[in-house]
Amino acid sequence: MCLEILEGSGWVVSGCLSSDASAIPGLPVPVLGLDSELEDRISGGAADVFVAIGDNTVRMEIGRRVLAAGGRLVTAVSPHAVVSASAVLGAGSVVMPGAVINAGSVLGMLVIVNTNATVDHDSLLEDGTHVAPGACLAGGVHAGAGTLIGIGANVLPGTQIGERSIVAAGAVVTGNVDVGVTVGGVPARVIRSGTGPL
Ligand SMILES: CC(C)(COP(=O)(O)OP(=O)(O)OC[C@H]1O[C@@H](n2cnc3c(N)ncnc32)[C@H](O)[C@@H]1OP(=O)(O)O)[C@@H](O)C(=O)NCCC(=O)NCCS
Repeated sequence: MCLEILEGSGWVVSGCLSSDASAIPGLPVPVLGLDSELEDRISGGAADVFVAIGDNTVRMEIGRRVLAAGGRLVTAVSPHAVVSASAVLGAGSVVMPGAVINAGSVLGMLVIVNTNATVDHDSLLEDGTHVAPGACLAGGVHAGAGTLIGIGANVLPGTQIGERSIVAAGAVVTGNVDVGVTVGGVPARVIRSGTGPL
């Protein structure tokens, strides 16, 4: 899907790097090499890099490597998304088809706003956040770095979500969420005091 968005916005994608150098079935671009070759590829001239990794921590790690090697993080916005002219998108972020980013919202670096997700006015999504498909953030929501707002979750106006926290799929978040916890349910409650295995 990221490939379609990139090509739809005028990029020519020469290939990808992967943890496994064999061809990826169905991917219409070649695997050029391993992730470990990232710095060599950038110094060899492939300066524009899109990091297509869903895991927030891994995406941020690779993004930092791109910048440290002198590369540029490509930002991708689907032609089928709606992004307010007053919204700000950080480097390496992606806005998927059907997503809406409303007025005054700010996205940090390497944020994913997934299919049909909405980020209403004056929200702040810090670096490495992922708003999963169909999730809705009301106005003035602040999602800390590395948070995952799960599929179809709803977050009420002005809510603050602590960094690295997870909002479970389908949750309705009615109050602030601490750092590094998982909340779920309607209304959302802490279902685990950490984001690792339950
Ligand atoms: C919350 C979540 C992270 C837990 O995943 P997990 O660690 O694999 O946990 P499990 O599925 O083993 O469930 C563990 C417990 O949490 C509960 N739980 C799981 N998902 C839940 C949800 N969405 N809402 C409420 N409770 C949930 C389970 O019922 C179970 O409770 P129990 O121990 O009382 O039986 C996961 O279910 C989730 O919602 N992830 C979001 C995924 C997503 O949106 N990804 C984006 C893709 S683009």
